[in-house]
Amino acid sequence: MELHATRRYCLGSQQFPLPTTVSAADGPVERCKGSRVGHLVKITNTGAEIACGVGVTILEAALDAGIPYPHGCQSGNCGACKSHLLDGAVTLDGYSDFALMDEERDRGLILACRAVPDSACEVAWLDEDDLIVHPRRILATTVVAIDDATHDIKRVLLAVSSGGPFTFSAGQFASVTFDGAPPRDYSMANPPGASLLEFHIRRMAGGNTSAHVATQVKLGDKVRVEGPFGTSYLRESHRGPILAIAGGSGLAPIKSIVEQALALKMPQPIHLYFGARDERGLYLVEHFAALAAAHPTLRFTPVLSDPEGATTRRTGFVHEIAGRDLADLDGCKAYIAGPPVMVEAATRLLLARGLRRIDVHADAFYTAAEMQEAGRKTGAQM
Ligand SMILES: Cc1cc2nc3c(=O)[nH]c(=O)nc-3n(C[C@H](O)[C@H](O)[C@H](O)COP(=O)(O)OP(=O)(O)OC[C@H]3O[C@@H](n4cnc5c(N)ncnc54)[C@H](O)[C@@H]3O)c2cc1C
Ligand code: FES
Repeated sequence: MELHATRRYCLGSQQFPLPTTVSAADGPVERCKGSRVGHLVKITNTGAEIACGVGVTILEAALDAGIPYPHGCQSGNCGACKSHLLDGAVTLDGYSDFALMDEERDRGLILACRAVPDSACEVAWLDEDDLIVHPRRILATTVVAIDDATHDIKRVLLAVSSGGPFTFSAGQFASVTFDGAPPRDYSMANPPGASLLEFHIRRMAGGNTSAHVATQVKLGDKVRVEGPFGTSYLRESHRGPILAIAGGSGLAPIKSIVEQALALKMPQPIHLYFGARDERGLYLVEHFAALAAAHPTLRFTPVLSDPEGATTRRTGFVHEIAGRDLADLDGCKAYIAGPPVMVEAATRLLLARGLRRIDVHADAFYTAAEMQEAGRKTGAQM
C-alpha cells in the first residue's frame, strides 16, 4: 500500500486544490495541541464554525466541539473522515493510498483526521452519494454514428466492442482517444445503461482533437475510451429541486443528468437552462421540449445571449436568467457544465444567492493547456 508523506494543499477561489509537495526534509509539522491560536474552520454539513488550535486536526477540533464528524481509525487509514476542502489551505499528515487516492486528492478531497489548517477553512464531510466509485475501464469502441448537432458541435455515438461493462454516474466524463489525435476529456451525454456511448464535441478554434473530430472522424473508426472520471454527477438520493445549467456542448453531461433523473422518476422539480449565443448554437431543443411535455417535473428554458435579429427566446446570460427565475434556491442542487467563463460566473452567482458549495456540482470544460497551467489533471493523466 502506498503511503503519503506530509503535504500541503490549498483551495482559494479555484475549484480544485493546487498541491504543493513538501519534501521530507521539511519534517513533521510542529504541534502545540490545544493552543488557543489557530484557524477558524467552517463545517458546511452543520453550519458550525469551530476554532482549530495550532497543530490540531480538523477532526480533533470537531469532536472536541461535540460535532459528530464521521470517523474511524483517526490515523489516515480507513477513509471514513474523507471530506471536501471547500476553501482554505491544510497540511495533510501521512495517510494510506487506500484512505485517499491521488485522484480524490486532486479533486479537492482531504482526510479530516490528517488535515491541519494553515488558514481559515471550509470543509464538508461526504454525503452518501459522494462515495460512489465505479471501476475504471479502458474500452475499445467503434464510431457507429456521427452527425452535426450544430454548425460547430458533432454528436458522436460509439458502440463498445470490448473492455466493458462500463458503469458510470450521470454527469461523469471519460478520456477519449480518436486515432491520430491527442486524448481529451469528454462527458457522456447518454444516461448510464444506454447501449451506445454519446459524446457532444464542440470544435474549438486552434484545437487539435475537436478539429480532428470535426473533419476526419468517420463511421467505423476505432476509439479508445477510458473512465469514468469526475465528481459532478447526479446525486440520486437528493430530493430538493434540481437546477441544471448548460452552455454549448456542456449540454452533454446535463442531458445525461436530466435523462437519468427522469428515468429514476426522481420526484422534484428539474429546471433545465440551455444557453447558446444564437439560434444556430441550440440543439436537441425539440428533444427536451418533448421530455418537458411528457414530464410535468421538467421545465426547459433555452436562452440566447446574442441573438441575430428578433427572437421569441429568452435572452441574456443563461445563469442570470436562471438566477432571476428561481427566487428560492432552498434545498436546491445545481449542476453546471460548459465553457469555464460561464461555469465560474454561474457558480459565483449561485453561491452569492446562498447555495452551499457542496450543492454546486460544476464541470468547467477547461482545455488540456488550461488544466496543465493550473496544475490539474486531465482524465488521461489520472
Ligand atoms: C471534465 C471535462 C469535460 C469536458 N467535456 C467536454 C464535452 O463534453 N464536450 C466538449 O466539446 N468539450 C469538453 N471538454 C473540453 C475538451 O476536453 C477539450 O478541451 C476541447 O475539446 C478542446 O480540445 P482540442 O484538442 O480541440 O483543443 P486543444 O488542442 O487542447 O487546444 C485548445 C485551445 O488551447 C490552445 N492551445 C493549445 N496548446 C496550447 C498551449 N500549449 N498553450 C496555450 N494555449 C494552447 C489552442 O489554440 C486552442 O485554442 C471537457 C473538458 C473537461 C475538463
Ligand atoms: S478516520 Fe480513518 S482515515 Fe480519517
